[in-house]
Amino acid sequence: MNRGSKPAVLVTGGAGYIGAHTAKALHEQGYFPVVYDDLSSGFREAVRWGEFVHGDIRDGRALAETVEAHRIKAVIHFAGLIEVGRSVVRPDLFWDVNVGGTISLLAAIRDRGVDRLVFSSSAAVYGQGGRGPLETIPEAAPKAPASPYGDTKLACEWMIAAECRAYGLSAVALRYFNAAGADPSGAIGEAHEPETHLIPLAIAAALGRGPALSVFGTDYDTPDGTCLRDYIHVNDLAAAHVAALKADLAAGCFETANVGAGQGRSVLEVVAAVARAVGRPVPHAIGARRAGDPPSLVADPSYARELLGWAAERSELDQIVADALRWEAQPAYSTGARAAGRTVQAAPR
Ligand SMILES: NC(=O)c1ccc[n+]([C@@H]2O[C@H](COP(=O)([O-])OP(=O)(O)OC[C@H]3O[C@@H](n4cnc5c(N)ncnc54)[C@H](O)[C@@H]3O)[C@@H](O)[C@H]2O)c1
Repeated sequence: MNRGSKPAVLVTGGAGYIGAHTAKALHEQGYFPVVYDDLSSGFREAVRWGEFVHGDIRDGRALAETVEAHRIKAVIHFAGLIEVGRSVVRPDLFWDVNVGGTISLLAAIRDRGVDRLVFSSSAAVYGQGGRGPLETIPEAAPKAPASPYGDTKLACEWMIAAECRAYGLSAVALRYFNAAGADPSGAIGEAHEPETHLIPLAIAAALGRGPALSVFGTDYDTPDGTCLRDYIHVNDLAAAHVAALKADLAAGCFETANVGAGQGRSVLEVVAAVARAVGRPVPHAIGARRAGDPPSLVADPSYARELLGWAAERSELDQIVADALRWEAQPAYSTGARAAGRTVQAAPR
């Protein structure tokens, strides 16, 4: 793809769910995305904008070569392991890939002309910490991750903050709440293995393609007794990354910003929204609470508005579910196809 005079942005993990949507947004906003990904959970078919470099985030030499070869000006760092449950049984892997990978990335961009980093952080850095179930979470809320996954995200934030102070980099850590939905084009969408996210699991159950949904706990101190989460459309997330690249930050500045819709939706509300969209009930079974699930995680996104001039635009629950359903009904690529040795080629759009 012809780069022309567009500024090149390294997108680590850009073959994954949120990274692919962000690469598309970058392309649409006049940037040239250079996706760097080992395809351990991402898809080559999802890289449709800019260049692709196959590599491991822990390979500092390959990263440095990529930064130099493409004259990278800014980096958006998504690459990492994301399954909270697996992080409890394999914390070593998570520290190696998430923290070790960020160490190698910081070394590779240091003194190579990169002046902006945007990092994929997570609401998992917050604990429940005495907050009432209907209280939203500001950035200053206590940090008490309930999993090694959350620990690694917080450790990366600290490292990046120190890097900024020491070397003059400017960076924004975006703390995502629950990413959901898909690009309305149908070209890219969510394809995790295993899928642990509520909306795709509920859609699979309603379409008869997956098991009945498990609802973990109906006795929380929330309006209907099920957990509250803040669902943010993946295209709104992508837009927040582009805004974070453009934000007016001084050299050495490190910022954190919550990226959520600011509205809590319960598990049962999501189940009802999926049933409405599919036109069939979502088979589901009520189970016990799951260890480590905070009753509610809902963003106070006001600082993102102030810092980035950003606000969610497509994150109304019915819109998210409609976009997710369009993708799930006819995914352009999937883990099932990959496991069977088939790759589904997305039609050009
Ligand atoms: N999905 C969510 O709701 C959510 C919420 C909070 C934070 N996040 C963070 O956002 C980022 C992206 O999440 P996602 O949902 O798009 O996940 P994803 O698994 O779809 O994407 C991660 C990408 O990183 C790549 N990757 C993994 N290990 C790598 C390595 N060693 N070297 C190079 N590439 C590697 C994978 O192949 C994949 O393409 C992650 O850092 C995740 O922790 C996601």
